[in-house]
Amino acid sequence: MKGTGLKSIHQAYMDFFGLKKRPFAITPDPEFYFESLSHKKALVHMEYAVTEKMGFAMVTGEVGTGKTLMARIFMEKMRPKINSALILHPILTERELLYSIVQDLGLRMDKKRPTKKELLDKISSFILSSAENGKRTVIIIDEAQDLKPNILESLRLISNLETGKEKLLDIILLGQPELEKKLSRYTLRQLNQRILVRTRLNPLQEEEIEAYLDMRIQKSGGEKFYDSSIIPLVYRYSKGIPRLINAVMERALIAAFVDDSKILKKRHLKLAHASLLGE
Ligand SMILES: Nc1ncnc2c1ncn2[C@@H]1O[C@H](COP(=O)(O)OP(=O)(O)OP(=O)(O)O)[C@@H](O)[C@H]1O
Ligand SMILES: [Mg+2]
Repeated sequence: MKGTGLKSIHQAYMDFFGLKKRPFAITPDPEFYFESLSHKKALVHMEYAVTEKMGFAMVTGEVGTGKTLMARIFMEKMRPKINSALILHPILTERELLYSIVQDLGLRMDKKRPTKKELLDKISSFILSSAENGKRTVIIIDEAQDLKPNILESLRLISNLETGKEKLLDIILLGQPELEKKLSRYTLRQLNQRILVRTRLNPLQEEEIEAYLDMRIQKSGGEKFYDSSIIPLVYRYSKGIPRLINAVMERALIAAFVDDSKILKKRHLKLAHASLLGE
């Protein structure tokens, strides 16, 4: 541990275990995507919503189950077929919403401070010309549980854009389970009724954890360095929630490194869990 300041601890354990990348970083990096049963189902639902022109879809999931990652995976997969805007940051006003969509679609406004109407017109003409070129436009909103009811309602109004025959835009809302509750408000019933595709991201099942760990280790350029007997503990500590698996596994890796052990064992995991709890 000599000379390993906080900054280099990651590098130190990576060198020790022969890793090129951090296998358990908590950023939602599509390269590390593991297709669990539940994630696969969510992706199928998102694709279905767009290919069948369903207008609205909603993906809910507890904190850390992979919603932001799924937004990215979906966009990567669909990129050749759709034009999309991904709104990741919290939106406070309708103008902000329209502005973010314009920016993320890569559109340019002539004026510095366009009005709401100008923004909306810009979006509409883009959606129309995309449709003429055979590409649907999809707006993906992450952290949708934080949207104020009036913003949710304006999404419905934006989505109304259509030719005589069909709607031209799909909106996918991703959010924590509170989103469902928010949408069940009386004032949002019209929007709620329009969301015909709904899916829930679940934590990984215990049987999926080993494959999840192996995939991440392999993507990091390493070889299996843990004893399989840790799996039930990983599950117990994380309840299968990917972000918690990553957090406890990275701490456990550090514990094994400090212990000078090339094999990550139960005791390292227990230490990691205790340290995450601040013990
Ligand atoms: N199917 C998966 N395959 C690989 N990694 C995953 C998967 N699902 C989630 N993760 C990882 O778990 C972590 C949390 O994922 P993400 O940030 O997407 O969760 P979230 O549901 O958006 O959380 P929050 O509610 O806090 O926004 C990230 O490191 C992500 O890469
Ligand atoms: Mg997220």
